[in-house]
Order: sequence, then structure tokens, then C-alpha cells
Amino acid sequence: MTFDRSIKIAPSILSADFANFGAEIRAIESEGADWVHVDVMDGHFVPNLTFGPPAVKAFRPHVTTVMDVHLMIAPVDPFIEAYAEAGADFLTAHIEAGPHIHRTLQAIRGAGMKAGVALNPGTGIADVAYLLDMVDLILVMTVNPGFGGQKFIHSQIEKVRALRAMIGDRPVHIEIDGGITPETAPLMAAAGADVLVAGSAVFKGGSVDNPAPYGQNIRAIRAAAEGARETA
Ligand code: DX5
Ligand code: ZN
Repeated sequence: MTFDRSIKIAPSILSADFANFGAEIRAIESEGADWVHVDVMDGHFVPNLTFGPPAVKAFRPHVTTVMDVHLMIAPVDPFIEAYAEAGADFLTAHIEAGPHIHRTLQAIRGAGMKAGVALNPGTGIADVAYLLDMVDLILVMTVNPGFGGQKFIHSQIEKVRALRAMIGDRPVHIEIDGGITPETAPLMAAAGADVLVAGSAVFKGGSVDNPAPYGQNIRAIRAAAEGARETA
């Protein structure tokens, strides 16, 4: 995988039909998804519960692009090896999940995965200043984590702009997660984000039996984001 800062759309399967993950993953990929975003929640770090390593491992054979696993769990370290075995390409941990994010990121790379660090909306970018050379991705939450379908938090636009400047030439993706639509995607693309996670805005109106709306939704987000890049 060579590093590139082109716009990538990463549908979150949190908005998929939970009885049909394999078919949903195949549908979003054939409709143009660049990455597949997998939201792992533990009912403790966030007030919602999704799935763990055995489910993520079952998703793996259906993913032909990139499996991007977003851990909203605490603690993280005891589970890193299990997500490596499950086949995660990117494994992202929240900086708020514990006191030793530096060790966690070392362990993620040590287990052979790309390492990501996620920031809640209330967390400032100063906390990642000494992590920039040990991460492949920084995820900026544009909602409070836990649920799909929430409202985009506009204060995060300025945060992404500052983060983009801080990253400079380093090969680090900026990923945005929460409330991304064709209206909010351009704001983030212009500010410097390259990976756009979208759950409800991708899955709305479609199903595994009628996946064409997934494609229309992905193309609408991508066009809006790329348009903003050109004029930025
Ligand atoms: C929220 C998750 C997101 C969520 C985004 O905690 O991390 O990935 O699925 O959903 P939308 O796009 O509906 O805001
Ligand atoms: Zn997520």
C-alpha cells in the first residue's frame, strides 16, 4: 500500500444490516467504497456495544479493499493481538482510552498493523504532537463516539486544519468520523482530511437487494469532497 492523500470513502458497517454483514460489505465495495470502516464498541468506553474479534475475523474474507478497525474500547492492549489475527489492516485506538497510548501504538505496529490514534471532539491536537512519527492515521471524531446518525460538530473543522499543518509531509492520513454527508464532507476535505467515514449517509435508501443507492450516496460524498479540494 503506497501512501496517498486522495479522498477515500470509508462506509461504516455500523449502519449495515447486522444479520447480513458479508453481503453488505460486498455491496458497498462493489458500489465504490475505498475502505471498510468497522466500529468496535464495548459498552464501557462508549455507551453502546457492537462486536469483537471473532466477528471482525468473519468479516475479513469479504473485504477486498482495506479493513479499517476503529476501537472504541478500554482497555485496548489485551485485544491487539486478537485484532491482528482477525485481519485488521488499520487498528485505531482512542487517546482517551488509557494512560499509555504510546505503548499501545507501538504494540499495534509491532503486531504488523497500521496504527491509528483517535481523538474525541473534546480532545486537543497537542496530545498527538509526540506521536506523529509512530502513527499511520489520525482519526478526528466529529460526533461523540457511540452511535451512528448524530449531528456533525463544526468546531472540528478548525482542529483538522491545525492538525493538517502539524502533520506536514509525514505519511499520516487524517480520517473524519461522524455526521459526514455531501454537505459536511467538503468542509473537511478543504481542511485537510483524506479518509471520510460515513455510516447513515451511505446506507440510507439502499439494502443488499437494492445496493444502487449505496453507490449514489458514495459518489455524492466523493464528488462534494473532491470539488472542495480543487477550490481549496
Ligand atoms: C460513531 C462511529 C461512526 C459512525 C458514523 O461512534 O465511530 O463510525 O458509524 O456514523 P454516521 O456517519 O451515521 O454519523
Ligand atoms: Zn468509527
